[in-house]
Parts: sequence; C-alpha cells; structure tokens
Amino acid sequence: MNKDVIVIGAGAAGLFCAIEAGKRGRRVLILDHNDKVGKKILMSGGGYCNFTNLYTSPQNYVSHNPHFCKSALSRYTPSDFIQLLKKYQVPFHEKTLGQLFCDNKAKDIVNLLLQECKEAGVSILLDTSVHGVEKKETEFQIKTNQGQYSCESLVIATGGLSIPTMGATPFGYKIAEQFGLHIWPTHAGLVPLTLHVDDKEKYTPLSGISLDAIVQCKKTKFRENILFTHRGLSGPAILQISSYWTPGDPLKITLEPNVSIIDIIESAQKISPNLLLKTILSPHFPKRVLETFLEETTLQMPLKAINSKFAEKISNVFKQWEIKPNGTEGYRTAEVTLGGVDCDTLSSKTLECHKVPGLYFIGEVVDVSGWLGGYNFQWAWSSGWAAGQVA
Ligand code: FDA
Repeated sequence: MNKDVIVIGAGAAGLFCAIEAGKRGRRVLILDHNDKVGKKILMSGGGYCNFTNLYTSPQNYVSHNPHFCKSALSRYTPSDFIQLLKKYQVPFHEKTLGQLFCDNKAKDIVNLLLQECKEAGVSILLDTSVHGVEKKETEFQIKTNQGQYSCESLVIATGGLSIPTMGATPFGYKIAEQFGLHIWPTHAGLVPLTLHVDDKEKYTPLSGISLDAIVQCKKTKFRENILFTHRGLSGPAILQISSYWTPGDPLKITLEPNVSIIDIIESAQKISPNLLLKTILSPHFPKRVLETFLEETTLQMPLKAINSKFAEKISNVFKQWEIKPNGTEGYRTAEVTLGGVDCDTLSSKTLECHKVPGLYFIGEVVDVSGWLGGYNFQWAWSSGWAAGQVA
C-alpha cells in the first residue's frame, strides 16, 4: 500500500506520467474510478484519436499564462510521440492541417500505453473511488474504497469536466482547493454554440448544412467549416471560436470566403443581364441557405436590376453575417474544459506545486486548453512526460 508515486486518473496524461516515472524505477500506482483506462482516448477523433498535431506550438493553447505550456511542449514534442507509435508499428495518417489520426482504432493508442505501463512496472487499480487525500509531513495518504495508500509524489491527472458520462469529475479542482491553490473559473470549450429563440427558428431549416467560413470573435478568427444544427452552430470553426467566446459576444462570419458575390454578379450582368440572382448564386450556396439569408423578392431579381450598391449589400449578407449566440451546449458535449488549476501555482518544468512539494497537476485539469486538432492530447503527453521525469 506504500508507493513512490500515485497518479489519480488513468487518462492520457496520467498514463503517460506513470510510464515515465516507472521507467525511472519508481514504484507507481494509478488509481481511477472508471472500469477502463483511457475512455476519452477511445472516444476521441470519432474513434480514431487525433493524437497529436505536427504543427503544435504554444499559440495553439488558451491559458491565462500563455508561456506556461512552452517548457513541456518543447521537451516532449509531437515527433517524440510519433517515435513511440513507430516503435509499436501503430499505423497513422495526417488528415488535414497537421492532424494525425490512427488508421485503425483509438484502441491502438490505449494498448500501446498499457504495454508501456506493463514494461515500466506500473500498477493500475480501476473502480477505485478516492475518498480523501491528506499530506502528513513528506507523505501523502490517500483513502479509497479499496483501502488506504501512501506515496511520496502525488500526481493529479483527473482531467476536466467535459462529458461527465465518461467519468469526468471536479476532483482535481477540489484537491487544488484543499491545498490552497488558485483555480481559474472553468467553462466548456471546443463546444457547439446555441442560438436565441428567433435565430434558432430562422436557421433550424439549415440543419445539416456545412459551409467554409471565417469565424471571428473579438480579435481571434478561424477558417474552417461551420455546421448548422438543430440547436445552433457547430463544426470545427465554431468549436475553435467557442474557446474564445464569452456570453454577449457577437460572432462575425464570412460564409464561403472564396466566393466573391460581387464578382459573380458583375460578370454575369455583362453576359446574361436577364438571369435571376437565385440562378447565378445557386452553384455557390445551397438553395436553403439562399432562401434563409435573402428575401424571395431579392432572389427573383434579374441581374440588370441590381446596381453596385445593392450588389454590395447582398454580398455583405453572406460576408459580414453577425450573430449573437445564446450560450454553449455545455460540458455535455464540450471537448475540453477551459480554466482550471492556475499555472502560476505550478512549475512549468515539472508541473509540481510551488507551495506543496510532491504534489503535481498535469493534463486538462491545468489551465491549459488546446485548439481542436490533436493539441489537447499533445498537452496531456507533454505535461505527463514532464512530471514523470521528476515525480
Ligand atoms: P482525461 O479526462 O483523459 O482523464 C482523466 C481520468 O481521470 C479519467 O480516466 C477519469 O475517469 C479519471 N477521474 C476523474 N475523476 C476521478 C475521480 N474522482 N477519481 C478517480 N478517477 C477520476 N483531444 C485531442 O487532442 N484530440 C482528439 O481527437 C480529441 N477528441 C476528443 C473527443 C471528445 C468527445 C472529447 C470529450 C475530448 C476530446 N479531446 C481530444 C480532448 C482530450 O480527450 C482531453 O483533452 C484529454 O483526454 C485530457 O487528458 P487527461 O488525462 O488530462 O484527462
């Protein structure tokens, strides 16, 4: 019941930290209340786990301390994780924008981590609820439903609040609070946005339609697809911007940035001035989008009746669409939790608490949240690796 290192949380960060500490000859035990390790890894990336991003850099993370993630990310990089996959001959591919996914299933990653745990002599105890943690001089005592354990180094890797049905709990924040650490308020991130009643009614008929878009909130913008849903807006561009959105902020959206409506109108006017606006725009936008964004009388206008000022007005409907979301879908569907344990309370090199020697926080429980695209797992590997070198 006495270990050198106890890691609470058998997710990406916890498993990785345990492996590294085990390799150093530390006696490591992982505790998790779930009946399986790495549940989020298994469900991630549509079951194929977007396990890293080739272009990972500190700019891809949201944190009150944007410098904090630099040390760990630079010492354990995407290439290091790729080497590990190659060692196990796990096949993978780049989907888009540097996002690496497994060719087979996300289970390949979990199997690899379990094999590494085995080789490093790491013990894993599942179905284990932690009832309390105390620090007695240089030792942590952990009370669980499976008995009491003690350790010299305690690593909290219990993740954030997203997807409670996968075992997410506020445990990590409570431990931080117990030891007097500051916690930044938490919010759902990488999450679909909901709309106010009137907008919802207006845009619901577009459910299922996906468009290329530039979505801007304050000074941050992303260019990827947006997806209309029956609850509001989703798709990669919306998930990305959701991590920067706060209630009341409007979103500025350019739909189909490559389509210049003014050019299309002006060139068609020269050749076929009697054509209807609807006819020339329909190759570029789905019919339902045109009918939702423009009045039927406008769509039925012949091109010859559209002057340059009106053409610009029509263009602005699609290019300067402004919408105020009502809220987010919350932790039920969010991919990450923004906020969390204040980076300034931890060493960026080791993830150990300045105030509580031997106590470490890694992964999503820390106030470091990545963009969509494999950045969150890279943070889990890098922060887990960094703590694993010293815990
Ligand atoms: P993680 O949540 O993985 O693990 C925490 C562990 O702690 C869990 O095993 C949990 O059971 C355990 N735990 C919690 N409370 C406990 C308690 N009280 N007692 C004991 N154990 C407790 N990221 C990415 O980079 N690429 C992707 O493709 C995706 N895809 C994706 C899809 C979906 C649907 C979600 C919800 C999230 C993603 N993510 C992602 C985000 C990614 O999954 C996430 O950032 C990492 O899993 C975080 O790793 P951690 O180890 O920090 O926490």
